[in-house]
Amino acid sequence: MTATEDLFTPIHKGLRSMLYNLSSRLQTNDFADATATAALATDLEHDFAVARSAGCVLCVMGKHASDEETQIFVAPPLAGQRLVTELIEEHHDLTRRELALEKGVHDISGLRSSEERVAAGRRLNAAANELLVAYLNHMNREETELTPFMQQHLTDAEMLGMQGKIIASMPPDRLFAILGWMLPSLNVTELSRLLASVRPNAPPPFFQAVTDLCAARVEPSRWQNVKLRVGL
Ligand SMILES: [Fe+2]
Ligand SMILES: [Fe+2]
Repeated sequence: MTATEDLFTPIHKGLRSMLYNLSSRLQTNDFADATATAALATDLEHDFAVARSAGCVLCVMGKHASDEETQIFVAPPLAGQRLVTELIEEHHDLTRRELALEKGVHDISGLRSSEERVAAGRRLNAAANELLVAYLNHMNREETELTPFMQQHLTDAEMLGMQGKIIASMPPDRLFAILGWMLPSLNVTELSRLLASVRPNAPPPFFQAVTDLCAARVEPSRWQNVKLRVGL
């Protein structure tokens, strides 16, 4: 019988929101404005690299790729498959694009003339758009090509085991940074199911922290609806 677990879609929804947010901040910035551009650059450098914190955008994306490679892609039916090899190559390409974007943001802080900043801002937007396209395509491949393969060749229990290992290996601050993007990106049914499945076995303070995060980040009417469905 075909399994039904899908390890990629929920986390990818969070990553998509993270990328859309980055794209939106870049495309609305007026690079002719030195103050606004300096503030954006500081903000993005902090998000990307300086902090190297649990929630750092590039750290989250990099950790996601390494979690996939170490906990999922190495499973016997997957390891060595052409699709998996290609997905790993895509991870390397995405890392190169992320580092180039990080450098572009860093370099823009040093530009003095409005013309130079506007030109650099145009290049930065183009680089971010290309990263977005490549990243969206990559996640689509994992969801539309790899998930069906995994559902054919693995059991739900095996997939949940992989997911459990990934979650158990995450420091709590990184887990909550990722949940902060993922929870508001799920639809009512997905979020209700997730909370209902976590609730029975989670320590009460952990579950409370997750619902507090939902209250803070999920769109209020959607959260209201989820609370009704889950009985919170
Ligand atoms: Fe991936
Ligand atoms: Fe992925």
